[in-house]
Amino acid sequence: MISRELAVFAYLPGEVSDVPAGLLTLSEEGPISIGASFVYGTRYLARPNAIEIDPVSLSLKKKDELVGAELHPASGLLLFGAIRDAAPDAWGRRVIEAKRKVPLNSLPESEYLLAAGSNRVGAIDVRSDINSPATHGLLSDIHSLEYLIEAAQRIEEGQPIPARLETFFDAGTALGGARPKATLRDEHGKLWIAKFPSKSDGYNIPLVETATLRLAQLAGIRVPELQDPIVLANGTHVMLIERFDRVGAANTMTRRHFISALTLLGCPEADSPRKNYVDIADAIRKFGAAPMLAHNLKELFSRMVFNILVTNDDDHLRNHGMLWVPQHHAWELSPLYDVVPKPTLATERFLHLGIGQQGRLATLNNALSWYARFGLTRDGAIEAIKDVWSIVREWKGRFEEFGVSGSEIDKISSAFRHARDIGGREIGLF
Ligand SMILES: Nc1ncnc2c1ncn2[C@@H]1O[C@H](COP(=O)(O)OP(=O)(O)OP(=O)(O)O)[C@@H](O)[C@H]1O
Ligand SMILES: [Mg+2]
Repeated sequence: MISRELAVFAYLPGEVSDVPAGLLTLSEEGPISIGASFVYGTRYLARPNAIEIDPVSLSLKKKDELVGAELHPASGLLLFGAIRDAAPDAWGRRVIEAKRKVPLNSLPESEYLLAAGSNRVGAIDVRSDINSPATHGLLSDIHSLEYLIEAAQRIEEGQPIPARLETFFDAGTALGGARPKATLRDEHGKLWIAKFPSKSDGYNIPLVETATLRLAQLAGIRVPELQDPIVLANGTHVMLIERFDRVGAANTMTRRHFISALTLLGCPEADSPRKNYVDIADAIRKFGAAPMLAHNLKELFSRMVFNILVTNDDDHLRNHGMLWVPQHHAWELSPLYDVVPKPTLATERFLHLGIGQQGRLATLNNALSWYARFGLTRDGAIEAIKDVWSIVREWKGRFEEFGVSGSEIDKISSAFRHARDIGGREIGLF
């Protein structure tokens, strides 16, 4: 077993550069993780605006007890949730492996973690030691998209990356998720995530994901800024979504700390399918900023209803996120991301997360069953369902306005459900 000590840095609210936050020790046997510990730096603890790296395992509520204390991940996790969120996920790992020319999942976690670079999600960075500088690399701009897509396709196909495409390694490793993507910088220095098509897609996902997020926005859900998808000369569409974990642009850009709901719930990834939306609601009650609480719980409810109506069954715990609110020393629900309709012929459908008394069954009466856990009255919950349904029912016209072609609409049509067919009558919608 090898113990590897790494330095964790934090971008404090409103600051453009980071400060050392503490030392992370990872115990590893090759690619197998054995455990982790963390010690906050004494100077970091003395900072009034210090952010907690992880609310569950590295809380700053009792700062006095933390000086010199060796902290371990809660619930026997092998890594702190927030550090896991700042590490590359499936896609980033493939990019790093392509760069190093090593087999799938063959590197120790510490190597993946370091290789993600300083453009990683949230307001923390992980580097080899306290003196190592941030590695922002060469972020590509929109004009490099053709190259980035070519590199992404090669990575998906397991082909080598020629030298002329190597800039992709700086843009492609930093973010989580499994689909091909890269961070781009626009002409003002603002950061965007570019999401590309993948070789196994059955329809135009960049175009449809953009339209679906815009539909959610019309339904009153908070969505990051989106650009119209870019269409390359060969007809490839690319989705462009603003990075909500960055504020401002270029030299004045600051960061907001981000964690997934997986981290908020302090559980291993394998537990995600056994968790419910109300588990997230309870965790928001515990760690959320009080002034935003009622609004966040209601919005979580609306997101669940939206996912039911569009059959977004990839609603796992990493697809819900939280951002740090410095004024309140607490967390709030992040804007919505990664919502994609899933066409299917099944009449009985399930989301990934539990919805209500009938488990993961994707119906509106099931969604209503635990309304009080979202801080809603029964009438308030029905109103919220009505608000979302009144927008989703018009999805075809909206998608046409958003530039989705008739043939793409046909391909995804089976994903969209009529409220009448999924319990709308029972809860008094009709
Ligand atoms: N707009 C955004 N701003 C900042 N971070 C984001 C944004 N959208 C997504 N992320 C972060 O990047 C990760 C990957 O993004 P996303 O979930 O969209 O990708 P994906 O590859 O489609 O994921 P999955 O593997 O769930 O299909 C998210 O889990 C989240 O941590
Ligand atoms: Mg995702």
